[in-house]
Amino acid sequence: MAEVVIVENAAAAGALVADEIARLIAADPATVLGLATGSTPLPVYEALRSRLDGVDVSQVRGFALDEYVGIDPSHPESYRSVITREVVEPLGLDPSRIRVPDGRTEGIEHAGADYEAAIAAAGGVALQILGIGTDGHIGFNEPGSSFASSTRVKTLTEQTREDNARFFPSIDEVPMHCITQGLGTILRAKHLVLLAFGAGKAEAVAGAVEGPVTASLPGSAIQLHPHATVVVDEAAAAGLRYADYYRYTFANKPSWQGL
Ligand code: PGA
Repeated sequence: MAEVVIVENAAAAGALVADEIARLIAADPATVLGLATGSTPLPVYEALRSRLDGVDVSQVRGFALDEYVGIDPSHPESYRSVITREVVEPLGLDPSRIRVPDGRTEGIEHAGADYEAAIAAAGGVALQILGIGTDGHIGFNEPGSSFASSTRVKTLTEQTREDNARFFPSIDEVPMHCITQGLGTILRAKHLVLLAFGAGKAEAVAGAVEGPVTASLPGSAIQLHPHATVVVDEAAAAGLRYADYYRYTFANKPSWQGL
């Protein structure tokens, strides 16, 4: 099962994950990172700024999880813009090495296969950052997504559109479709790091970590991965049955093991 780390707050989670990413980049300057958008990963990117200060990141590569379909890449809420603003620019990464699925409608029929080929050509993702939706989605793999799925177009649930309406002038402007790495794609990353904060995520986290492995809760796919780490605050951990065991395990984690 996933290793669960319960931390005091989002900043502590950000520090923990940023340390691991900095370690990877120090070991391999061309590390391939799996990037996520949304509010959850922001503390990781924030913590990375100081850790990568003065580090040569010119070779670092990255693949975002998903993008809206039919949104202009220059729209401030396209995930291309979000990744540029929140990750590429603050960390000084080379924009040409950071890919986001192409959500433009022209050519959308081969955008998924192109993205899969690019990830494979890069040698796969070393560490994939994940958030989780209140409905249990990871990436934009909504309930019902196949565990074998690859990058493809999906229809967003009403719930997800409502959750993301805060980034748009109105819910009517939240796109209906997205292009997302599949659960199969995500499971091919070497290390999954799923973060969640706040009581609103407690049910999804409990289902993903301790519930049945089911396409009805796509986050539960992490149970099939040999190296998945779930970093949560107390509020998001509230539904976990074995929380005490996770605390005990982490407190006694061998120092050689890394995250
Ligand atoms: P959030 O989104 O980080 O903005 O809560 C998580 C997700 O939808 O994956």
